[in-house]
Amino acid sequence: MSKAGIFAGVVAVVVAAATGYTIAKQQSAASADSSLGAGDTPSAESTLSSKRASASSNAGAALVAATSSAGKIIVVKPGSLIQDAVNQAKAGDTIQVLPGTYSETVYIDKDNIALVGVIKEGVWPVLDGMGKLNDAVLYSGNGIRVENLKIVKYKGNAIMGQAGNNFVIRHNWIVDTGVYGIFPQLGQNGLIEYNVLSGIEDAAIYVGMSDNVHVAHNEVFASVAGIEIENSRHAIVENNMVYDNAGGILTFITPGLPIKTTFDVIIRNNFIVGNNHKNFGAVGSIVSGVPSGTGILVMAADDVVIENNIIRDNKNAGIIVTDHKNASNISPDPESDPNPDRVQILRNNFSNNGYEPIPEVKALMVASLTRQGPDVVAVGGGTGSCMIDKAAHATLGIGGWSSTCAKNTTADIVTLLLDKPAPPRSTESADKGKVLYNGICAGCHAYNARMIGPPTQIIQAMYAGNAQGIAEYIAKPVKKRDDFPPMPTQAHLNSEMRRAVADYMLSVKK
Ligand code: HEC
Repeated sequence: MSKAGIFAGVVAVVVAAATGYTIAKQQSAASADSSLGAGDTPSAESTLSSKRASASSNAGAALVAATSSAGKIIVVKPGSLIQDAVNQAKAGDTIQVLPGTYSETVYIDKDNIALVGVIKEGVWPVLDGMGKLNDAVLYSGNGIRVENLKIVKYKGNAIMGQAGNNFVIRHNWIVDTGVYGIFPQLGQNGLIEYNVLSGIEDAAIYVGMSDNVHVAHNEVFASVAGIEIENSRHAIVENNMVYDNAGGILTFITPGLPIKTTFDVIIRNNFIVGNNHKNFGAVGSIVSGVPSGTGILVMAADDVVIENNIIRDNKNAGIIVTDHKNASNISPDPESDPNPDRVQILRNNFSNNGYEPIPEVKALMVASLTRQGPDVVAVGGGTGSCMIDKAAHATLGIGGWSSTCAKNTTADIVTLLLDKPAPPRSTESADKGKVLYNGICAGCHAYNARMIGPPTQIIQAMYAGNAQGIAEYIAKPVKKRDDFPPMPTQAHLNSEMRRAVADYMLSVKK
């Protein structure tokens, strides 16, 4: 969406229809713990450590335990390749990376591997892309854990998941790694915690087309978007420190992706402060349209609950709620509902937001005769939304919202992670192309909108009847367009997989 586009429309009156509350899966800390033994039999050690962790009521303890591998330990020293260790590893093994510098892209296409850095006397193992390599860690296996790595100067992603379920990404330190920092795509049941990220051109933590994800205790700053939950369901974003980004926490539907909805997202207990960084997103990208100074942005997502955050000093607005119509750069997707429905703003601590709003917000202020910049501003359609304490805060465009919500707190919902590990995605050959496309390509190619790469529709026209041509291009992409970044090689896929994904790319219809 372009900056001008976000508020291009008139403020629509939102009809408050206090409909049912989101059917969030509720789970107590105790049941999270009992799920421990439900998957693979954990080793005595992992049982122990998970009990300790759950004693501190960590929502992801069971998942961490499930990825605490019981196999061999393979140690990687500076001067050797992490990839060699991955190639040797079997399911259940742990790869320990000793302090030192490594410059490579690590592909993990097996299940149940833990890739864990060893930090000694304050010295980290560093993966350095030297401004040349695209990705640091790419995984497509299930039950992958990536921990204790410092990742710097890549051009694409620090850690990207491609259709891997039951993942744990924690305690990493990520600086200037290009488009995304931590990016699980098409994953189910994952934990992202205690990471520090900065200097990312799009979203520092980007949960894309995923389900049952817990994003907690991360520090994200100096990026275009701090944390983004996109085309994803059942996510909790809590206890994060999110500051000095252009936009703090975003949850939305990007049209033209294979997964068409975003709903059941809880954003709570975060510090969302001073997100006034200049927006340095790639021209034409969706996040480049997020106005600097935005604390939280909800676009077309449903059943989003925003509770107990400290939302302060965001110069444009504390929270923006918008539909797709008020965003340009967004071609409507007939299969996505463009309206944000049942957004529930519970108690939050707002102060000093909206002190220097974009002209479109100023115009709304003039129209509604307010002088105070907004804590909350809503534009466009949507029904069933509410804000507790509405009268206590500076708001625009939420006149029709109810001032009572069906629930006053989400405290009873500890986690939306699953009790048992999610089954792996189908690798039936009939589905392989689809899983690869959704898991890898759709992160950059939407059907009819520009993301990082050109729209799939345009590629279909160029390569009609020539799947082999695509399969060859992606093994060794050459630079074609001046106004796009280079496409990263997919040489880690074998020729049969490349052909399967190429066939699927040509057949996809939306
Ligand atoms: C990290 C982002 C990214 C990912 C992931 C990605 N692409 Fe691309 N792709 C691009 C960009 C950027 C371009 C434009 C490159 C250029 O014009 O130089 C591109 C261009 C292409 C083209 C056009 C080639 C041409 O002749 O113009 C094809 C075909 C393609 N990608 C296929 C795929 C397939 C298949 C996948 C998944 C296996 C995929 N891409 C994954 C970013 C990506």
